Amino acid sequence: MSQTDWTDVKNLAASAPDIRSLFTADADRFTRFSAHGAGILLDYSKTSLTDESLAALLRLAREAGVETKRDAMFTGEIINITEQRAVLHTALRAPANASILVAGRNVVPDVWETLDRFLTFAEAVRGGSIAASDGKAFTDVVNIGIGGSDLGPAMVTGALAPYHDGPHLHFVSNVDSAHLADTLRELDPARTLFIVASKTFTTVETMTNAGSARHWLAKALGEDAVGAHFCAVSTALDKCAAFGIAPDRIFGFWDWVGGRYSVWSSVGLPVAIAIGATNFRAFLAGAREMDEHFRTAPLEQNLPVLLALVGVWHRDGLGYPARAILPYDQRLSRFAAYLQQLDMESNGKRVTREGEPVAHATGPLVFGEPGTNGQHAFYQLIHQGTDVIPCEFYIAAQGHEPELAAHHDLLIANCLAQMQALLLGRTLSEAGGNPHRVFPGNRPSLVTAYEKLDPATMGKLIALYEHRVFTEAALWNINAFDQWGVELGKELATRLLPVVEGKQKAAADSSTAGLVSFLRGSGAA
Ligand code: F6P
Repeated sequence: MSQTDWTDVKNLAASAPDIRSLFTADADRFTRFSAHGAGILLDYSKTSLTDESLAALLRLAREAGVETKRDAMFTGEIINITEQRAVLHTALRAPANASILVAGRNVVPDVWETLDRFLTFAEAVRGGSIAASDGKAFTDVVNIGIGGSDLGPAMVTGALAPYHDGPHLHFVSNVDSAHLADTLRELDPARTLFIVASKTFTTVETMTNAGSARHWLAKALGEDAVGAHFCAVSTALDKCAAFGIAPDRIFGFWDWVGGRYSVWSSVGLPVAIAIGATNFRAFLAGAREMDEHFRTAPLEQNLPVLLALVGVWHRDGLGYPARAILPYDQRLSRFAAYLQQLDMESNGKRVTREGEPVAHATGPLVFGEPGTNGQHAFYQLIHQGTDVIPCEFYIAAQGHEPELAAHHDLLIANCLAQMQALLLGRTLSEAGGNPHRVFPGNRPSLVTAYEKLDPATMGKLIALYEHRVFTEAALWNINAFDQWGVELGKELATRLLPVVEGKQKAAADSSTAGLVSFLRGSGAA
């Protein structure tokens, strides 16, 4: 990609117009700076993009080979070069007649066989034919996993609450004993099924929680009951077996599925238990529709590409450090946390695919909370703070509670009002000369709008963001599919554990030694 293209984008950003003036000059701005795909509307008109800057960004995308790189991902080329792996979460939602080769073998039949297996298991748990050790149905299911083995199923299960008609779902991720203890306190071991979800089956948090859960269950029901009350989701089938889980209760996936991209695989088992196989297939079909859109729509009308171009405009052109994810949808309460992993673990990189320092700022800080709650918390800084934070709103045309339709009108009005406040602001004279009440305005926002948060839409929203992350990574020439940045902390925790346990002397910096002494010595007493 030529430096000139980046220079063009940066020069255009340096003289970016006031967003308000763009609306004044062009009555048609909404139509021209919004796009539809797979039943989703993306409105990016409330940004400072112009025809010229959008054209420059599209040039950048073409120069970066976004289309070629996209096709390489979909066809199973080894694009995760640091781990020598294909990246094929899209194969998990591919049609049954597709052919996607990894090392010369079509993976789609394996995907469908595994899908059928874990959906059959989910239906059997829901129907009670897979039952507890006393032969009665499970009423509660606890998923034990962390990162991608937790956030995806936890977020989607919460989002699709109106579709729940199976056992109650619980999620334990944190190694903090509080998480497991607070969850188990409410549960009856005789009625509880555990899913141990870990791609590697070595993650210390998950293995620790799984071991303690196993102990809790065996203490109440006896060691013989363990087999009936545990199942596993992992690529490490031998390790699951060593934990004591029977082969027909182990659901695999593949090394070409990254943890944060795995909710479509058997990692989605808790979702399937909550909403059933038909709804789970609709969730996959929604994602497939977005995949099709990403693969075939021209870049100018391609939702993930447009989202990525706006992201790069804000991050690299205008130098904004963060993006706020603001769903006006209470059931998306874990969506920001989910996208935080998807985005920051993928694009929080400082070297290029070739290992050279990057020439541009990469992934921004991603944070957020559902509206309207966020309005009464951190929006103050977004409206009047010294940093500009592009806000990305999500809103449904319809809620799931027709009897409470007035709430939804109020929700929509609030969402629109926030975007308008960011755009228009309030001048000193409008504020009665009081500088404390001035809103600068000209602050950018985007909105992704959809009809209703049903399983298919949930699939589309996730796939949209996955492909946005992919496209941004392609523009920055970084590998979005490894996560070496999580390793050092894990290694140091292993080394520090004996020090914390008092079995070894701290051979570290004086701060670490002082803290160990406070937490494990006289200071904590
Ligand atoms: O935090 C690092 C990470 O490897 C994530 O990428 C992953 O989703 C999570 O840990 C859990 O890993 P596993 O599924 O192997 O337990």
